[in-house]
Amino acid sequence: MANILCIGAGYVGGPTMAMIAKHCPEHRITVVDVSAKRIEQWNSENLPIYEPGLLEVVQEVRGRNMFFSTEIALGIEEADMIFVSINTPTKTYGEGAGRGTDLQYWEQVARAILSNSKKKNVIVVEKSTLPVRAAAAMARILHSESNGVHFEVISNPEFLAEGTAIKDLTEPDRVLIGGRSNESGHKACKTLADLYAHWVPREKILLANVWSSELSKLFANAMLAQRISSINSITALCEKTGADISEVSHAIGMDKRIGPHFLQASVGFGGSCFRKDILHLAYLCEHYGLPEVAEYWDSVVSMNDYQINRFFKNILTSQFSTLANKKMAILGFAFKPDTGDTRDTPALPICRKLLEERASISISDPQALDNARFELEGVEGEIHYEQDPYLACQGAHSLLLITHWQEFRQLDYQRIFDSMAKPAFIFDGRNFLDHQHLFEIGFNVFPLGKPALSHLQ
Ligand code: NAD
Ligand code: UGA
Repeated sequence: MANILCIGAGYVGGPTMAMIAKHCPEHRITVVDVSAKRIEQWNSENLPIYEPGLLEVVQEVRGRNMFFSTEIALGIEEADMIFVSINTPTKTYGEGAGRGTDLQYWEQVARAILSNSKKKNVIVVEKSTLPVRAAAAMARILHSESNGVHFEVISNPEFLAEGTAIKDLTEPDRVLIGGRSNESGHKACKTLADLYAHWVPREKILLANVWSSELSKLFANAMLAQRISSINSITALCEKTGADISEVSHAIGMDKRIGPHFLQASVGFGGSCFRKDILHLAYLCEHYGLPEVAEYWDSVVSMNDYQINRFFKNILTSQFSTLANKKMAILGFAFKPDTGDTRDTPALPICRKLLEERASISISDPQALDNARFELEGVEGEIHYEQDPYLACQGAHSLLLITHWQEFRQLDYQRIFDSMAKPAFIFDGRNFLDHQHLFEIGFNVFPLGKPALSHLQ
């Protein structure tokens, strides 16, 4: 039996450790965090994050072989293996501001591990997404003093997506482990691989060198985001030419070499990682003297900003270039469905722009209203939050579909239309609704990358 510790009880630390605890009942797993509130929530029925299926797994393992605690030093003292799953945000100050990774929390954790570790051999697993060579920097700190502990730092990036975390963790496409190519490195990688092998087929557990592992994580996110920016760039061309983005996406996705995934046109990608990780990747390229490569990846983020802005401008121009005193119903504030996470959600810049135009906004989201309140705290203007989407739409001039929650497709749009100001507009930022049906009800419908259906001359 080993004592496994995870530092950081967030969207990654909580679900990944719950999955390890579920499949490895012989090991004791402790998850620690500086936030007492988060730990308290993990120890309750009201978990700090909304993730389908997560509560059931936590209920199965909590108190059996999984524990949540704020006792970080004690946790480190007892640990044979330490996962580090803290946030690695973009730096907001000094050199690399707005692009590089802020490594201060990472370094604090390294120093806490160095001061408190007591076991003879400790494996440190880099779970957070970090710049290439961060594991080596961590190893340097850990070996800066001789406290009798042998540390082996390995990289094991996480590829789960929010909203499908439990499925992604249960049946991962692959598990990637990067370690040093010496005996100690191999041994540490094997120990971690054996843990995953409790439920992941061996052929899906890949071993690599540390830097390949770190880079693969950044690059995987950059590639996924690049597909979205590519399809979104073509929505603009479709709107000019009369082509239909859904038909184009379907046609190119049937090519096996391209594949159908991540070709869903949208108001723009969001989430805590895509923008952050691409900016880190571009910054790394700059750092290593590759400005052309950095520029290439930066353009993926610029295209996303362009798409968000284009969506907003379309709302403004199609409503006679004034939104002052008009009510806008915002359906969905989370960055994607099945999560309450609003980090870097496209809903935020859109709401800000609407408020700057002196529109009032009324936001409805099944899981993200508390986070929406937090994101919009201090922003000037008239903002309403409604759990009930029908109330959010009542008296509105326009309805903006930002997050494609399944329940938004099942609404009674005739009832919504009857309660709205006329002419009534729908801007579908996900091409998710039945546009022809909405048009027949009487809405003026503005999809992405396909002709608008308008009753106005
Ligand atoms: P998060 O903000 O939800 O959780 C991080 C937690 O770490 C917070 O609860 C914070 O209080 C805690 N923390 C910070 N410093 C600490 C310290 N010194 N000691 C103890 N606890 C500390 O972040 P997240 O979304 O779980 O992401 C964590 C990492 O995983 C990031 O590097 C991210 O890029 C990566 N990642 C995230 C996802 C995702 O879907 N969210 C997926 C794959 C990878
Ligand atoms: C993403 C990756 O998919 C994960 O593999 C990765 O582990 C994670 O980032 C991370 O490192 O944090 P996540 O951000 O949770 O996961 O969600 P995605 O499903 O990737 O969606 C990201 C954004 O892209 C969302 O706003 C989504 O609506 C948007 N999207 C996705 C599109 O606009 N079109 C698509 O076709 C797919």
